[in-house]
Amino acid sequence: ILIKEKSEYQSDYVWCYGISDCFGIVWNCIEGGAIMLVSMKEMLHHADKNNYAIMAINCCNMECAKAIIGAAETECSPVIINISPRQWKSHASLDATVPMINNMAQKSSVPIALNLDHGQEYNDVVEAIQHGFTNIMFDGSALPYQENLERTALISDLAHASGCSIEAELGHVGQASAGDGVSNDFYTHVDQAVEFVKQTHVDALAVAIGTAHGQYPQGYVPHLDFQRLKELKTALQMPLVLHGGSGAGQKNIQKAVALGINKINVCTDVFAVGRERMKTSLEENPHIDLMDLCHEAEMAMKEYICSYMQMIGSSQRYCYCMSVKKEFD
Ligand code: 13P
Repeated sequence: ILIKEKSEYQSDYVWCYGISDCFGIVWNCIEGGAIMLVSMKEMLHHADKNNYAIMAINCCNMECAKAIIGAAETECSPVIINISPRQWKSHASLDATVPMINNMAQKSSVPIALNLDHGQEYNDVVEAIQHGFTNIMFDGSALPYQENLERTALISDLAHASGCSIEAELGHVGQASAGDGVSNDFYTHVDQAVEFVKQTHVDALAVAIGTAHGQYPQGYVPHLDFQRLKELKTALQMPLVLHGGSGAGQKNIQKAVALGINKINVCTDVFAVGRERMKTSLEENPHIDLMDLCHEAEMAMKEYICSYMQMIGSSQRYCYCMSVKKEFD
């Protein structure tokens, strides 16, 4: 009793929606059975419908890619790989990184999306699309409202016409180091958000409710505006995104998911656990082989990602599990 449906944005796929909630989505590529990078839209739709969130993790090299995809496989979880223009321009060149991720995704048994993280320039969006990204996050949040809306609408048309889904940001999620997120001056306004989504046709919206990017001061846990989040979800009825998922506190994160956040961006903490494991390994053995050192970083990042996936409820969404009925055997 599977409903077969061709994805709107990934014409290569047949998506089969199982009748068990827990089963999630099983899919096959028409040619050869390989699973490739998938659209973020369907993933987030499933997360929205089933009230959980999916990690979007920044990736700057092979160790990050292996840690992210390895964790997703271990947890039977969907995952989104983020690459920002700054990351690809300073280290993770797209010509090298995207084919590597694509190859890994083809051999994986869970859905993996590739997302342009914080695209602000038209040329960067085009470059990401040309390289095969499956989602564009256009960030016009530092612009005046009208300009953000107009640019987002244009990028949204471009992304959709190119087979990509799109996320935008309204309100502004700033930097923890600058103390951003504390004042509600840049939080997302509900009425504006409704109008923005209606006019831009974005598939997901990043909202500003009190988190910030980067590392918070020692011991500081942000205060999130849950009432605003509740109102945003009720008014928009679509996948919502939380940026600044590092150091935001487990209670905050889980409550945000319960109230309708479906994608959580995490970078700082993933990179930090990799770096710290390298530091400890070097202290323990200053002559450690470079390959072993890289492997240690990969393992540390993978462990962290696995536990975060469990925390936000994306684990075990893409596997047969206890609740799958006998007739599926
Ligand atoms: P953190 O670095 O605070 O986890 O934020 C990541 C992010 O939001 C990337 O878009």
